[in-house]
Amino acid sequence: MSCCHHCRDAENMFDRRDAARQLERYRRRGPEGTTRILLDALREAGVAGASLLDIGGGVGVIHHELLRAGAAGAVDVDASSAYIAAARGESERQGRAGQVSYLHGDVVAMADGIPQAEIVTLDRVVCCYPDMPALIGVAATRATRLLGLVYPRDDWWVRAGVRVLNAGLSLQRTAFRVFCHPTAEVDAAVRRAGLSRRLQRASGPWQVVVYERGHS
Ligand SMILES: C[S@@+](CC[C@H](N)C(=O)[O-])C[C@H]1O[C@@H](n2cnc3c(N)ncnc32)[C@H](O)[C@@H]1O
Repeated sequence: MSCCHHCRDAENMFDRRDAARQLERYRRRGPEGTTRILLDALREAGVAGASLLDIGGGVGVIHHELLRAGAAGAVDVDASSAYIAAARGESERQGRAGQVSYLHGDVVAMADGIPQAEIVTLDRVVCCYPDMPALIGVAATRATRLLGLVYPRDDWWVRAGVRVLNAGLSLQRTAFRVFCHPTAEVDAAVRRAGLSRRLQRASGPWQVVVYERGHS
């Protein structure tokens, strides 16, 4: 699958209506379950003055919340222009537009221009991308201190759910697919970049994993 195909599929899947719905939910209820777990873990590890790379940030919940918690600045890279517009609008509304740069596109295709950051996050993004080693490779090599992931658990019932979801997408003639990458393979790809696991928590079909550089 080429990067152009991936961006087109992401644009169709994560459109303006979806972005408006997600943003409205965030404004009403704040961060959702697994995002909250990831945010708590990152805040506990320390975010004051940190730089953040939020890959596939959606409407920007992670960077809005970490900037509020004292992070110095953020870069959000997203394949959906509708989500970027929603995240940017929310940054402006929260008075933090000057602290965030927005990049539109497939982070793997744009790897050469993706900066390092102390904290890198992929919240429910690994499941959107077929080439997991490439995606994790870009994210993990950019993380100078912490890498936070939320991605599907490696259990038979989650894989079964993903198969049903993909059958539904196929019936709708949507090219976008969801991927349940094996945990051992994701973990190996992160470790290859020199990070080790600091925390792992399961919640429903998701797992939240935080990696740290220089920790053994
Ligand atoms: C399921 S949404 C999650 C959004 C947000 N992180 C959250 O948890 O609410 C996946 C997001 O990742 C983005 N995305 C998927 N693959 C990407 C890639 N290769 N490069 C950049 N963004 C990507 C999509 O456009 C979308 O905004």
